[in-house]
Amino acid sequence: TIRTLLIGSGSYLPARILTNQELAARVDTSDEWIRQRTGIGQRHIAADGEVTSDLATRAAERALEHAGLTPEDVDVIVLATTTPDDTFPATATKVQSNLGASQAFAFDVQAVCAGFVYALAVADNFLKLGQARTALVIGAETFSRILDWEDRSTCVLFGDGAGAVVLRAADLDGPDARSWGVLSTHLHTDGNARDILYVDGGPSSTQTVGHVRMNGKEVYRHAVSKLAAVIDEALAANGFAAGAVDWLVPHQANRRIIESMAHRLGLPMSKVVCSIERHANTSAASVPLAFDEAVRDGRIKPGDLVLMEAIGGGLAWGAGLVRY
Ligand code: ACO
Repeated sequence: TIRTLLIGSGSYLPARILTNQELAARVDTSDEWIRQRTGIGQRHIAADGEVTSDLATRAAERALEHAGLTPEDVDVIVLATTTPDDTFPATATKVQSNLGASQAFAFDVQAVCAGFVYALAVADNFLKLGQARTALVIGAETFSRILDWEDRSTCVLFGDGAGAVVLRAADLDGPDARSWGVLSTHLHTDGNARDILYVDGGPSSTQTVGHVRMNGKEVYRHAVSKLAAVIDEALAANGFAAGAVDWLVPHQANRRIIESMAHRLGLPMSKVVCSIERHANTSAASVPLAFDEAVRDGRIKPGDLVLMEAIGGGLAWGAGLVRY
């Protein structure tokens, strides 16, 4: 049986930190409001001229180093982003060039905040079909570039960053073969919910980049119910009870949403990787960023069962179960 093992991770955050207090000096908000409603304390912001592919490249280099592989080992690069460097070519092609991953084919996946889970599913399927052996899966965003910095209801929520994992196909035999690596991925879309979360611009519609627009309350309502359903689906597909999960690595959009998912899984917050206080919502980067931090500080260990989940614009959402 071909299994898809997760053999390395890496992440990168731009140096500049923007605190809630600094934001309160720009728009009518407060550190207290932001912390209480979202759990966010600060966010990282890319420097002038620092683009999504730069963040992605740094995270990818660290993930390859962690996996003990070289760029030439990579067969496919799948990069999830909503904030590509340019309309085209795909930002993944710049990462390929930056890394010198000359053997790899490379493309972007656009599923906004669910992008990493989508990219993981895409790469996992390439590997399981034998079309590639080694995949670099990246989530990278410079969301600060599409924020309306006068709109307090959105500009306080997001940050910039990148995370990456390396997947490698391995032919495992025996009864244990089923229970290693990426166990399953589950993706869903509801295109009818576009109006509650979108960007008011694009190459074909307005020939502008546009800004994020959101009905926060509606997104919150959908997030809680849809994530709960996809978590149940992922557990059921593998015959696991909620108590089997060692770590929840959720999309970092709102601490209250994260707490609600932990509750559903019967997990204490000490078993939830929560980086929202320092990173805010980095969209497609949030899950791999949080995952990498927890691997590097020793929380997530080999053999742990990790549940990843995310939802965002589309609406698009999904979950992945990984035995690390
Ligand atoms: N500072 C101070 N006041 C604010 C701010 C702010 N930054 N933003 C909004 N307010 C005000 C509103 O104007 C409103 O005032 P009013 O009652 O006088 O009209 C009041 O605060 C309450 O606003 P609500 O929108 O009702 O606040 P809510 O408790 O719903 O929290 C929030 C808003 C944090 C956006 C929440 O709805 C949320 O997190 N939703 C999920 C959205 C999300 O995470 N989106 C990210 C992209 S999608 C994803 O990643 C899942």
